[in-house]
Amino acid sequence: CGIIARIGHGNAAETLLSGLENLEYRGYDSAGIAVQNGSGVKVHKCSGEVSDLKSTLSTQPHGNMGIGHTRWSTHGPPTDENAHPHTDTAGDVAVVHNGVIDNYDELRAELQEKGHEFDSDTDTEVIPHLIDEYRDATGDTEQAVRRAVDTLEGSYAIAAIVDGEEAVYAARKGSPLVLGLDEEEWFLASDVPAFLDHTDEVIYLEDGDLVVLEPDSYQITDLDGNPIERPVDTVDWDPEDAGKGEYDHYMLKEIHNQPTSLANTIEGRVEDGDVAFEALPPGSFDGIESVQFVACGTSYHAAMYGSQLVREAGIRADVLRASEYESTTGPVDETTLTIAVTQSGETADTLDALRTAADRGARTLAVTNVVGSTAAREADDAVYIRAGPEVGVAATKTYSSQAVTLALLSQRIAGDVPDATPADDRAAMLEALADLPEHVETVLESTHAETLAQDTLDSESFFFIGSGLGRSVALEGALKFKEITYEHAEGFAAGELKHGPLALVTEETPLFAVYTSGDDEKTKTNAIEAKSRGAPIVAVGPTDHPLVDVADAHLSVPETHPVWAGLLANVQLQLLSYHAAKQLERPIDKPRNLAKSVTVE
Ligand code: G6P
Repeated sequence: CGIIARIGHGNAAETLLSGLENLEYRGYDSAGIAVQNGSGVKVHKCSGEVSDLKSTLSTQPHGNMGIGHTRWSTHGPPTDENAHPHTDTAGDVAVVHNGVIDNYDELRAELQEKGHEFDSDTDTEVIPHLIDEYRDATGDTEQAVRRAVDTLEGSYAIAAIVDGEEAVYAARKGSPLVLGLDEEEWFLASDVPAFLDHTDEVIYLEDGDLVVLEPDSYQITDLDGNPIERPVDTVDWDPEDAGKGEYDHYMLKEIHNQPTSLANTIEGRVEDGDVAFEALPPGSFDGIESVQFVACGTSYHAAMYGSQLVREAGIRADVLRASEYESTTGPVDETTLTIAVTQSGETADTLDALRTAADRGARTLAVTNVVGSTAAREADDAVYIRAGPEVGVAATKTYSSQAVTLALLSQRIAGDVPDATPADDRAAMLEALADLPEHVETVLESTHAETLAQDTLDSESFFFIGSGLGRSVALEGALKFKEITYEHAEGFAAGELKHGPLALVTEETPLFAVYTSGDDEKTKTNAIEAKSRGAPIVAVGPTDHPLVDVADAHLSVPETHPVWAGLLANVQLQLLSYHAAKQLERPIDKPRNLAKSVTVE
């Protein structure tokens, strides 16, 4: 879910609504705002997207302060009643919330006994009722909010407004919240893009912080009420990066942004034939003997990419699904480096794995796109992928930047681990990296993914295979395809195809075979086996490869070092998914049921 609050001079509603549009990648099944003016707290909310909310507002609600929410349902279906903001019985306290309240059942029962009436199925609704209850008891709203959050178990970022008070109250524990400071107004939001049009001056709040915003001042305190000073940071994202520009969809814009975003990722990180990370000078990984990557979704696929390169350097490396960390990790200690790969830095499953690893004594590193994110702050070290804001729910440019960052990191780690063997052709690999942005440009200009999407769209299922680095790309290609087209797509290790999935292969199941180098024999053999069962084969990789001769179609990429060829193949598959989804008229930037940043487990 995404939350926003604004207080200042002038009207709040427009800022709240545009902020919510910028936060919709965090959830888009219902939306709402509450504003406060001389005649009380007014709530406007409905199921559906922010555009639906806007169309229910015949005139812009009046008031200089307010809160807003865009929802990704956890407790209760996406109905008008379950949309935020929620209020207490009298409608005097309105609250927006991101996170999950674990003890809401018992709190609700206690409050009901005291006469509070509930309208929704959500866990959130207990919060305004609690604040109301404690206001009656203490006569002071700030104290009431403090007591209310103290009573809550679980995770939350909340913002509240109260009838008759010129203030926004907010608190966080386990869910992100950032304060934006402009000359004439203050903001609070789950993420910076919500208010980037207005200001780039921010304060990243931390767990346990309670904030009171008034039109001309703000105050941060801890849960005991002691004032806290937090540093003001300047965000270096350009507000234009957060818009759609000339493109039909954010996803297409972000695919086309990759030559630039990759150039930013690489800048200054290859020097004199060696890898340099400012935050991780030589010696940073002294004492490390093994590496484990934890991640979800697309980031998991980028982690697969990175982990292979760490293994190739002779260092033990595993890649684990963050949501299954407990059941899949081996023993960890101070010789283990746990790398959390997370675009947002806020994925609850990934944060949970990171914390478990840290508790068990591992060294931790976050590889993320978001400065000030929870992963970046909690891990021992952080490396930024510098992809710029990504709004499309289906991750594209951040996968490419993650994979490049991790490939470079593998060489940096290998430099510190005794007996590690950095790649023989490391110099060639690093040299070829400089051409990657230009090669992506070539793919974008020469691709015929759109025609191919058209030609294959009637199929029953879409299969993607690859081996080694190609496997990571095949799995990512299938994930992207299913996320935005809603068609059945699966990715397999090339060699596994014959051990079961082959039973699904027919003339109705095109097979996309991803390869990265000339010696990708396994992928070729398995593609031929599928072809002899009738499947149309699409080769995805460089032209100079025997697979091209057996394939029915080819999505080609420029010749380059095998470590980067997979990323070019991935750009072709991003375009394939995009054009297939477009022809099917899917809501490409907001696929059903998904959210970009899932901050609950
Ligand atoms: C969600 C998104 C995926 C994303 C995953 C991990 O499930 O829908 O697209 O890959 O979270 O996100 P992260 O921010 O940790 O990279």
